[in-house]
Amino acid sequence: MLKAILMKRPHLGLRSRMHRFALSVQVWRQQRKFDATKYWHERHRIPGHGIRAVGLDGYTIEENEKLYAEKGLQMAGYLAADFADLTRIKMLDLGCGQGHYAKVARNLSIGTYTGVDFGSTVLGELANRYPGFNFITGDITTDSPIFDEKYDAILLIDVIYHIVDDTKFKKLLANIQRSAKAGSVIYVTLTDKNSAPHAHMKYRSMRALSLLTKLGEVKGPDRWMSNSSIIRINVKRETV
Ligand SMILES: C[S@@+](CC[C@H](N)C(=O)[O-])C[C@H]1O[C@@H](n2cnc3c(N)ncnc32)[C@H](O)[C@@H]1O
Repeated sequence: MLKAILMKRPHLGLRSRMHRFALSVQVWRQQRKFDATKYWHERHRIPGHGIRAVGLDGYTIEENEKLYAEKGLQMAGYLAADFADLTRIKMLDLGCGQGHYAKVARNLSIGTYTGVDFGSTVLGELANRYPGFNFITGDITTDSPIFDEKYDAILLIDVIYHIVDDTKFKKLLANIQRSAKAGSVIYVTLTDKNSAPHAHMKYRSMRALSLLTKLGEVKGPDRWMSNSSIIRINVKRETV
């Protein structure tokens, strides 16, 4: 691990690379005892603006709002391009958080929407704000009847790299595979490989997503937007 870190970033001085290594070890230790449910539940209870719970750490509310506005437009553009009739599609929003993509879905008149999150404290409010949409408190890394159904659009926006436990990560991919069908599109964001290590984040490469990418054609990211570069997987094969 030390050698890999030292070799990987030759542009950094030895002191910076050693510091990064020490930080990685510290984060690795923290991740072994990381309680994701507790972490996200507490984060969603931060008083004030909901965007603080789900937005980028280190960004101001205004910066996060700007980023979210851009991401919303990008997602709306992709959905409009990927489906001829959005009123007929079924969307699954995994880790729906404070409902930012529920808003996008409602603005686009998406037919059926299900949002799932285990930490969000606002799902009841979202259900009132978006009548007809379904919000479920649940862990997306476990077995759930949610995954017995098939969906046209499956969203995993700024979620996948928060699944720091490898067994849970694999389970999530298997769940998504189960819920996809030929014609589905999976929208997933990846984080920057070089972002600073955190206990609640683990970099996941495209290769780590192979269970999903092998289902069809991968598009994007068209551009890198901080940690929000959306890749689209157009599912070609029937799944289990
Ligand atoms: C960075 S936020 C992104 C929220 C939303 N997708 C967005 O883009 O605004 C990550 C979300 O994933 C949720 N989450 C993380 N792990 C989860 C899990 N195992 N099951 C359900 N939700 C999870 C958190 O509670 C949080 O709302």
